[in-house]
Amino acid sequence: MKRAVVYATLATITFIVFVLTISLQSIGEGEMAFGGKEDIAFANKTWQAMAGYDKWPMKSAVYPGESPHGKFLRLYYNIVNVDKKPYHVIIKDNFGGEDATLEKVSESPKKYLAAVTVMVQREAGYDPDNNDWFWVKYKADGTVDKNPMGMALAGRVGKGMDAGCVPCHSKAQDNDCFFTNDKKM
Ligand code: HEC
Repeated sequence: MKRAVVYATLATITFIVFVLTISLQSIGEGEMAFGGKEDIAFANKTWQAMAGYDKWPMKSAVYPGESPHGKFLRLYYNIVNVDKKPYHVIIKDNFGGEDATLEKVSESPKKYLAAVTVMVQREAGYDPDNNDWFWVKYKADGTVDKNPMGMALAGRVGKGMDAGCVPCHSKAQDNDCFFTNDKKM
């Protein structure tokens, strides 16, 4: 092979590798619907801001839940400050366990707590299609949970996908992504 051809081939390969690297990077850094660094940071700050939420006065009793949330649930509401800005926060404790009963969970909720799912209403424009909710699923110890693909469950979770908080909650009545107010008591 002529030297010029070798150089041209090498240059082409280098160029292709370069373009691939750049595009992979931009996919990684591009705006993801959820699970990005900022989403996780906001989720961690929210967890700190809601410390002691189990003693908030606005909370429900423990009640039997529906799929996909726990066997038993409890709701909490408050306004919390994150970075000195106030946000409406709705928390749902999800309880489970082989021997979980309404009585046992009500008596020792910490023992049966399986996950904490939270909706935080963000600034107008955060996600106008879905009432600007930020979604997060924490494990019982407050770390942000991940889906089977390893994506952190914080942000517009599931937006544009078949499954996740957003596609399911967007089926709630009146476009508020909120189920509890659909129940006619
Ligand atoms: C397959 C559907 C579905 C998915 C997925 C889902 N939810 Fe829910 N969620 C519900 C239903 C139904 C309720 C009402 C359950 C009840 O209170 O009995 C609910 C209730 C809630 C509530 C209480 C407020 C309300 O809307 O009534 C919060 C908070 C919540 N979910 C957070 C989340 C978060 C965060 C995620 C994702 C990590 C998530 N949910 C995923 C169906 C879903």
